[in-house]
Amino acid sequence: MQAFLKGASIQSTKPQKDKAAGPSGEKKNKPVPWVEKYRPKCVDEVAFQEEVVAVLKKSLEGADLPNLLFYGPPGTGKTSTILAAARELYGPELYRQRVLELNASDERGIQVIREKVKNFAQLTVAGTRTDGKPCPPFKIIILDEADSMTNAAQAALRRTMEKESRTTRFCLICNYVSRIIEPLTSRCSKFRFKPLDDQIQEERLVEICEKENLKYTKEAIAALVKVSEGDLRKAITFLQSTARLNGEKDITESIVIEIAGVVPTKMLNNLLQICYSSTFDKLEIAVKNMIDEGYAATQIISQLHDMIIEESLSDRQKSAITEKMAEVDKCLADGADEYLQMMSLCSVIMQQASQSN
Ligand SMILES: Nc1ncnc2c1ncn2[C@@H]1O[C@H](COP(=O)(O)OP(=O)(O)OP(=O)(O)O)[C@@H](O)[C@H]1O
Ligand SMILES: [Mg+2]
Repeated sequence: MQAFLKGASIQSTKPQKDKAAGPSGEKKNKPVPWVEKYRPKCVDEVAFQEEVVAVLKKSLEGADLPNLLFYGPPGTGKTSTILAAARELYGPELYRQRVLELNASDERGIQVIREKVKNFAQLTVAGTRTDGKPCPPFKIIILDEADSMTNAAQAALRRTMEKESRTTRFCLICNYVSRIIEPLTSRCSKFRFKPLDDQIQEERLVEICEKENLKYTKEAIAALVKVSEGDLRKAITFLQSTARLNGEKDITESIVIEIAGVVPTKMLNNLLQICYSSTFDKLEIAVKNMIDEGYAATQIISQLHDMIIEESLSDRQKSAITEKMAEVDKCLADGADEYLQMMSLCSVIMQQASQSN
């Protein structure tokens, strides 16, 4: 009987192995977005965020883990870091039992915190894995994009977090730490994720180019880093778009700039000149042209901002203009009309420029 069972088990494992090889073989041809394909698989692969990596590595070696709060700009590795750490802590099998991942796409009102999170937190866990390796005697609840949780829901977490501290660790992730209520931040170790250094981004991009067999120029990589402003996800996405557009040819700076929707400096200089020394009618035409060309107003403003800072205007003029920029930016975020907002901004530039210093 035992021999039969052994035989059966061998037989049943064999086709499984083949099956396992099947999808992974197909995976190579499957078009996966590069941001997913090159997402760090282990904590060591996370670049530039040394403090967090050090703490997580300690806990991988068996030390206790505090409740965590990750905050920082988009595309700096927050989600990737905790997912990689959780995977390393528990291995693929236990992962599903031990990690509860909720993000902004899930319902996270007070009701869900009361039921789902609380129930999950109350479960007790063992300190070993099925494969015999030790694993931490706690579960992890990841609340991604926590800044979009209502204050009531956040408040409901307070007691749960303390009461279940024996069996559960929380990891809150957000872009704006100011939107997390004070009592929660004080229960967590806070880690700021810095925008990635230019050089680190360049290294990553070059690595991806080499793995994907892309031809590139040095300037193109520098341009990718510049347009993505410390957001590696943006840089990788742009790289993939340029690679698709380009086919076999070299990736060059001009293609990157085209893809990223950067407004040509000449066009902006022209707009500023009109503001300084021309009529309102001409300004109207110039702004209309820009919007009709399809350039995003937010992009125009962000580039104009950098230019205005360098212009030879007085401090008073610059501050008036940049204050208006902030106002316009907020209006645009709220869905205001791009043309009207741009006109409103340009009129202020015109007005300021016409006043003597
Ligand atoms: N520090 C990093 N090291 C290595 N890769 C990174 C790093 N930061 C970002 N990336 C790359 O960018 C992609 C997006 O990262 P991730 O999803 O972790 O960003 P995030 O900080 O969670 O952003 P968001 O605030 O928008 O959720 C990853 O797939 C990875 O390829
Ligand atoms: Mg994220």
